[in-house]
This record gives sequence, structure tokens and C-alpha cells, in this order.
Amino acid sequence: MELLVIGGGNMGFTYAKSILDSGEIASGSISILETHPPRIEELKEYSDFTIYDSIACTSSADIVFLATKPQQCKELFENIKHLVKPNQLFISVMAGVTIASIQEGLGTKKVARAMPNLPAQLGKGMTGFTGAKELTEKELKQVQKLLETTGKAMRVSSETSIDAVTGISGSGPAYVFYFMQGMIDAALQMGFNEAEAKEMVSQTFEGAVAQFKESNDSLLTWMNRVASKGGTTRAALDSFDENNLNKLIQEGAFAAQNRAIELGKK
Ligand SMILES: NC(=O)c1ccc[n+]([C@@H]2O[C@H](COP(=O)([O-])OP(=O)(O)OC[C@H]3O[C@@H](n4cnc5c(N)ncnc54)[C@H](OP(=O)(O)O)[C@@H]3O)[C@@H](O)[C@H]2O)c1
Repeated sequence: MELLVIGGGNMGFTYAKSILDSGEIASGSISILETHPPRIEELKEYSDFTIYDSIACTSSADIVFLATKPQQCKELFENIKHLVKPNQLFISVMAGVTIASIQEGLGTKKVARAMPNLPAQLGKGMTGFTGAKELTEKELKQVQKLLETTGKAMRVSSETSIDAVTGISGSGPAYVFYFMQGMIDAALQMGFNEAEAKEMVSQTFEGAVAQFKESNDSLLTWMNRVASKGGTTRAALDSFDENNLNKLIQEGAFAAQNRAIELGKK
């Protein structure tokens, strides 16, 4: 099984490395096609991968990851279309690029589309994916296995759900960073230094998420466990509610989803 990653940037390299580390595809069978000369030099330091700078390598791969920037895909498709074979499986992680446009651009049907997020780089990613109707169950399972090398992968029933995945887990890490920033800003004003604030806030997030994931209790139950009537936590939660924070977070997620829909039409 030969795997080719087209675009050896942040995401492409993450997949090449995670798949290699997982052993899903044998060392020596993973290649990266990259066009940016300084990046090619950097990639050559990783002897586990074969690095190509010419598109000819496309025809010998069984599975191809598409990981260039979305705005680069049209030119890429035009260049490699004549090298594509009907049995090759294409997995795109390019935001906003639809399965139909990949099928049309490459002249092939076997296409899956995934939306990962940044923690994929640490093996803690959350990826939503779906496949063209022409993909077999076996191929979809194979896609899932490869995507799961970077964390969790959830199959969604239709491509429109990929835009929703973008609004929740794709853009989600930034929402968490935003909330953390607010807490850090407050900690600094309360007199803690940067290192102390970072430690307190990061550990609080990590602990809370771990606690939530280990139980079947709802978030409301957990909130009520921390907040007693008339207490300090209740004062904070009441303040959030008075300012409609929950609603604002929802609106933010929908803004991301809508933007993904808009970009997909371009
Ligand atoms: N980063 C994320 O968190 C994230 C999350 C979800 C989805 N994605 C998607 O993942 C994709 C890659 O993002 P990224 O952050 O990894 O971008 P990136 O770091 O810019 O990587 C893309 C790489 O592909 C190279 N490239 C461009 N055209 C090429 C071609 N024709 N053949 C081979 N290589 C080519 C680029 O070179 P040049 O620099 O010379 O252009 C660059 O080195 C994007 O489509 C993005 O939407 C990223």
C-alpha cells in the first residue's frame, strides 16, 4: 500500500508522520509531494519519507492525501488529472473544497473529505469526514483508520455536516483559546504573573474536561456541583447568563459554519 501526501505543510506532514508512527502503512511506503523549495529541504531531513518535487509520483500511489491550501487546488488538479487512476483513493483535508469539485477536477469518483483540527498535530485531533457515494464500506473504514492516527475521527452522513463540523471542532480550538484568554486576562488583573496565569488556566481546562469525559453526568450537573447557591461560582455563572454568553458562543459557532458554507460555494 503506497501513500502519497500532496502538500507537506502543517497538516500534510502531520498525517504523514502520524500514519507512519501508527504503523498503518509501512515505513518506506509513505511519500510527500511538496513544491516549496525551503520546505522540501526541511522535509528531506526525515529519512522515513520519500520526498518528491514533481507530480509524476502521483500515479504510483494507492491513497493520496490532498493537503495543499484550498486556493492552490485548482492548479494542482489541472496538473495531476492525467496521472489519476480510477482505483486510487483521494482523501482531502482542504477546507471548503467539495467532493464534487474534487471529483470534477481530478476526473475520478473515489474521494473522501475530512475536516481535522489543530490538535491533530499532537494526536489529540477531532476530525469529521464523509465519502463520495462511490466509496465502498471497506474504503470508508480505511479512511477512518488513517484519520484516527491523529486522534478521533467521526463519520458524518452527508457533506453538509462537514460545514457543521467546521463550526464546532474545526474552528473549536480557537473558541477554547478565546475563553482561556479571558480567564488569563482576569488572572493577570488579579495580580498573577503570566506563567502563573497560564498554569492555572491550562490545568483548570484540562482537569474539567477530564472530569467531564470520565462520567456520564451532564455539563449542567457538573456546573451545579461546583456552584453552590449564593457562592462564588454561582456569581460567575450568573454574570455569564446575564450577558447571554451561552447564546453568543452558539452564534460564533454558527458564524463559522455559515462562513464554511459560503467558502464552499466559491
Ligand atoms: N492547519 C489546520 O489547522 C487545518 C485544519 C483543517 C483543515 N486544514 C486544511 O489543510 C490544508 C493544509 O493546511 P496547512 O495549514 O497544512 O497549509 P500549509 O502549511 O501552507 O501547507 C500546504 C503546503 O502545500 C504546498 N503546496 C502548494 N501547492 C502544492 C502542489 N501543487 N503540490 C505540492 N505541494 C504544494 C505549499 O507550498 P507553498 O507554501 O509554496 O504554497 C505548502 O508547503 C488546507 O487546505 C487547510 O484548509 C488545515
